[in-house]
Amino acid sequence: MKKTVPYINNLKGNRVISMMTAYDYPTAKAVSEAEIDIILVGDSLAQVVLGHDDTLSVTVDEMLHHVKAVTNANPSSLVVADMPYLSYHINVSDSLKNAGRFIQEGKADAVKVEGGEKRKEVINALIDAEIPVMGHLGLTPQSKNLMGGYKIQGKTLDLAKKLFEDALLLQETGCFAIVLEGVPTIVAQSISENLTIPTIGIGAGKYTDGQVLVIHDLIGMKSKEYIDAKFVKRYGEQYDSTVKALVEYKKDIENSDFPSEEHSYDMGSDIQDSLKEWKKEIKKILS
Ligand code: KIV
Repeated sequence: MKKTVPYINNLKGNRVISMMTAYDYPTAKAVSEAEIDIILVGDSLAQVVLGHDDTLSVTVDEMLHHVKAVTNANPSSLVVADMPYLSYHINVSDSLKNAGRFIQEGKADAVKVEGGEKRKEVINALIDAEIPVMGHLGLTPQSKNLMGGYKIQGKTLDLAKKLFEDALLLQETGCFAIVLEGVPTIVAQSISENLTIPTIGIGAGKYTDGQVLVIHDLIGMKSKEYIDAKFVKRYGEQYDSTVKALVEYKKDIENSDFPSEEHSYDMGSDIQDSLKEWKKEIKKILS
């Protein structure tokens, strides 16, 4: 069964919502098979897939390339495309065109935008154009230069109140869910308890309506030396097992242990005589 926006909304108060990033076809297949509710094609792809330092340099075209790969997997999970930096900051008309591409060309089910009050007009326009919008508050990585780095947000009462006001505003504007990133547990809990739409937390404690992680963090697609953020739990060591497989492959081909007969093709036994003739012909040609 394909998960829809109303389905996700109905989960609030019934069970925890699961969300995971994916940026390609095989990962989307796996995430869907694990019955994760939402796939986020996050702009975190800038860092974990493309190797940039932050999310600011990924473009709509680059994101679209990955959104298409994910939706080609026909996942049962709801697919949310992250609107990258500058794709919804310049004017409403550009924002609509960019979001529309994720829906029309990328076949995403919804888009995500970062920010509160400042984004009200754009979010309104997207929803008017029948595009479901997921909000994103707290530590919004696209604002890292204004925030002075990746800092936990809402740590004073005034800032917590502002976060709550923004969350209410996003709900009133029509967002179907809100990501709360990098905020104290108690702040995320208070917001979650007082909204009717679900909150999805990352680095926001356990009282949000759902949880999200970046898949490369979860499966450990990073060397052990990489220092994970406090909120990350590694459920695998995929980087190590990939290196191990590559080292074994290199050893096998150097020792002629691969490809073995098991991994090679024979010609039919009926052409063995013609094959001998052919080998003779080759010798003649070369002599
Ligand atoms: O881009 C992303 O992966 C995200 C999640 C961390 C919520 O925005």
